[in-house]
Amino acid sequence: MENIDWQKKLFDSLSFPTLILSLDMKVVAANIRFLQKYTYNKEQIVGKKCYEVLYGLKMPCEEVSCPLLKVIKTRKGTSSTNKTKGNNGDDIYEDRVCSPIFNDKGDVSYILVSIRDITNIKLLEIEFHRSRDFLENIINSSVSAIIVADMRGVILFMNESARKLFGYTTKIAVGNSIAEYLYTPGGARSIMKKLRSRRYGGVGKLYTTNMTIITSSGKKVPVEMNASIIYENGKEIATMGIYNDLRPKIEIEKKLREAERIKLTQSNKMASLGQLAAGVAHEINNPLSGILIDASLILEELENDNPLKEDIKNIIDDTNRCKDIVKNLLAYSRQVEIKEETLDMNSVIEQAFSLLKNHALLQNITIKKEFSDGMLLFKGDKNQLIQVFTNMIINSAHAIKDTGTIIMKTDRDKSKGKIYVEISDTGCGIPENVLPKIFDLFFTTKEEGKGTGLGLGTVQGIIEKHGGKIKVKETSPKGTTFQISLPLFTVSRNTLV
Ligand SMILES: Nc1ncnc2c1ncn2[C@@H]1O[C@H](COP(=O)(O)OP(=O)(O)OP(=O)(O)O)[C@@H](O)[C@H]1O
Ligand SMILES: [Mg+2]
Repeated sequence: MENIDWQKKLFDSLSFPTLILSLDMKVVAANIRFLQKYTYNKEQIVGKKCYEVLYGLKMPCEEVSCPLLKVIKTRKGTSSTNKTKGNNGDDIYEDRVCSPIFNDKGDVSYILVSIRDITNIKLLEIEFHRSRDFLENIINSSVSAIIVADMRGVILFMNESARKLFGYTTKIAVGNSIAEYLYTPGGARSIMKKLRSRRYGGVGKLYTTNMTIITSSGKKVPVEMNASIIYENGKEIATMGIYNDLRPKIEIEKKLREAERIKLTQSNKMASLGQLAAGVAHEINNPLSGILIDASLILEELENDNPLKEDIKNIIDDTNRCKDIVKNLLAYSRQVEIKEETLDMNSVIEQAFSLLKNHALLQNITIKKEFSDGMLLFKGDKNQLIQVFTNMIINSAHAIKDTGTIIMKTDRDKSKGKIYVEISDTGCGIPENVLPKIFDLFFTTKEEGKGTGLGLGTVQGIIEKHGGKIKVKETSPKGTTFQISLPLFTVSRNTLV
């Protein structure tokens, strides 16, 4: 039989670079794989300290981290991962396994260090962690709540939004069989039934459905949910639910309904107020005309030096004022007939300004007209539209008080078929608490005798009757801009022929 040194043969046949160390940390032997891999020759390496050979250090490693001491102490093998740089600068990961070699007495006499290159495994592991973190990040940043549970109802995963919505911490929820408590009694079973049916999105799927969930504190919350079964090799392994809290949506809908209701009540109130005003105005109009005629007759009869003449004049002035109010009331309540003709907006506004030319209120105010080029035609009642602009201009002048500017701007949008008029002033602006009331009948902030609060109500009545709209576009303590829009009248070829 061949005389073979089996121990040496075995040592050199190991496919991992391997060293044998003495207890005083010196290299006693290195196998061929080690010498090849780290390009040493036997003479160079034997007798050198392990920290020089393995870590390139001049001093021993710290006692706590020294694997050699650990093996001596525990008499058991140990392994540690070491990261180094390769010649090309790439990271190299090595698994260094230290195993005790016992003598016949059972004492640790040498230590075997075996080095395994685990760079590929380590890089795969790093890549795996990176993509898992990335996916987890995506799921966690979703605003929808996401929960994954196994088929027994044990929670496997809950994203951040789910923890917030359901009120559970990861520690309490994950790993515990609480899925059925997330729904009203029977809810979880009904979801599973639907998931397994064909009717709600196909087998394994449940399209968006509204339902109620129960939070950790027992609160019922309406949600929108969709769910799916996760399969592995055709076998059901988990379910995933995606939930969106419906409370904000329900709250907005409630507010909208409430606003709609208030608007409706308000417009009903205004409509009946308008009818009442129209009735009263009609009744008052005739006696007022009678007073006016009689007073005028008396005035004519009286001698010039009659002291009553001044009183009669006052009666006539006040009656005329009453007649104006009645006229406004009728316009407001849309009882006045519209005399429809084709008008040009720029010239209607010019006429309103010329009517107010000598008005004391406008004497210190700069008027700027930014009119659109060309005609802005619309169908309407000239006198009523003039009344609109005189009302608006007087309101602006009142808001300005001393000096300031009123800008009247006209424009059109052919595609929308609209004329726009903007009345801007550098006045005091409309306070927030006043703004919702300005179109109300008899609402005024002016002192008695200066305003009746019919102006804007009348304006709105006329504009709406003409198929248009009026709104406050902007207001601040620096001034106000009202915007009026009216249907643009376009002359078609047919009309011209
Ligand atoms: N351009 C404006 N700037 C600031 N406030 C305004 C302006 N226009 C209207 N307002 C506010 O709206 C209120 C209602 O206006 P409206 O024209 O209906 O009544 P009035 O001017 O007070 O009285 P009337 O027009 O009947 O003489 C005003 O009292 C005022 O507070
Ligand atoms: Mg007014």
